[in-house]
Amino acid sequence: MSEVQAMRATPPEGTTPSAAVQVMGVSKRYGDRQAVDDVSLEIRRGEFFGLLGPNGAGKSTLVEIMEGLRRADSGSVALFGESPWPRNTTLLPRLGVQTQSSAFFVRQTAHEHLRTVAALFGASRTAVDATLDSVGLTEHRDIQVESLSGGQRQRLAIASALVHGPELIFLDEPTAALDPQARRALWEVLRGLKAEGRTIVYTTHHLDEAEALCDRIAIIVDGSIAVTDSPHNLVDASEAPSRLMLPLGRLDEQQAAAIPGVDRVTVQGGSLVLETRTSGRVLSAVDRLTGLDGVQTRSASLEDVYLDLTARLARARQTPGGHAETTEQQA
Ligand SMILES: Nc1ncnc2c1ncn2[C@@H]1O[C@H](COP(=O)(O)OP(=O)(O)OP(=O)(O)O)[C@@H](O)[C@H]1O
Ligand SMILES: [Mg+2]
Repeated sequence: MSEVQAMRATPPEGTTPSAAVQVMGVSKRYGDRQAVDDVSLEIRRGEFFGLLGPNGAGKSTLVEIMEGLRRADSGSVALFGESPWPRNTTLLPRLGVQTQSSAFFVRQTAHEHLRTVAALFGASRTAVDATLDSVGLTEHRDIQVESLSGGQRQRLAIASALVHGPELIFLDEPTAALDPQARRALWEVLRGLKAEGRTIVYTTHHLDEAEALCDRIAIIVDGSIAVTDSPHNLVDASEAPSRLMLPLGRLDEQQAAAIPGVDRVTVQGGSLVLETRTSGRVLSAVDRLTGLDGVQTRSASLEDVYLDLTARLARARQTPGGHAETTEQQA
């Protein structure tokens, strides 16, 4: 065993080799902007972990520090117990990386580009064809990279992160430019990768996507983690209301507002919308008053929780000395 291998066989102090990713007190500043502010988190092997947060919150900076592409000012990262910084060539084949601004080999076709990436990692020709197919690029394989549409280039970037079968996959807004079918097709690819036991770190602004895919999410605001939990627990613990939608003309606004448990009544998109935190009770009352034909219900979603949390944090920031009443559910 070489000296380097011997050194790497001993994980850095304080790390858990069973974790896929450990981030320990990481901070990063650009001028007077604190992009990442003392973030700690742990991602388990096989976990699908989402990072959510407003534009400029620090998600890409944090992910790129995890990937070993940017250097933290302080704190440390361990991937499978090893530091990705400085460039760690034993880790590289185990990582799949799609950054928010992907670069491609110029004057190559989609297929040639992916073959070149695959060759760097010793992945097979079969893997190239299968990966190109999994992102729906087979019929565009002979098109030059610079002639692909934005969404097709994004698919190629995703394929480039997956072609060598990495254990730990980082995807930074992979569905940003994808059409709805391609987005759903990617969900299936990612579910397959998760079923194979791979770990996925994922950023997105699509809250439905985070809710459908992620085991756990962290919401980052101003460089700090505001909350970490499963989408289910976050929705469950939230006070965001459910909505009952009634066709117009069945009840008037006063009648609806008088139902016990109804917090707010509005008219939206041709429906009378009743907001409530006790939907069972309100549904029974509506049933007694008009019947349930044509009544739709929508329970609180992760999007409601996200909007509620980020709005409260923004209000707290505007109040001198104010603090948001968030539940820190650090796992
Ligand atoms: N290379 C850089 N030089 C200077 N400032 C930077 C650099 N990279 C990021 N920043 C700043 O750091 C902050 C966090 O940026 P980052 O790209 O991490 O946000 P993000 O959460 O990924 O946002 P988005 O959702 O828009 O992708 C922003 O204020 C950004 O302007
Ligand atoms: Mg980003």
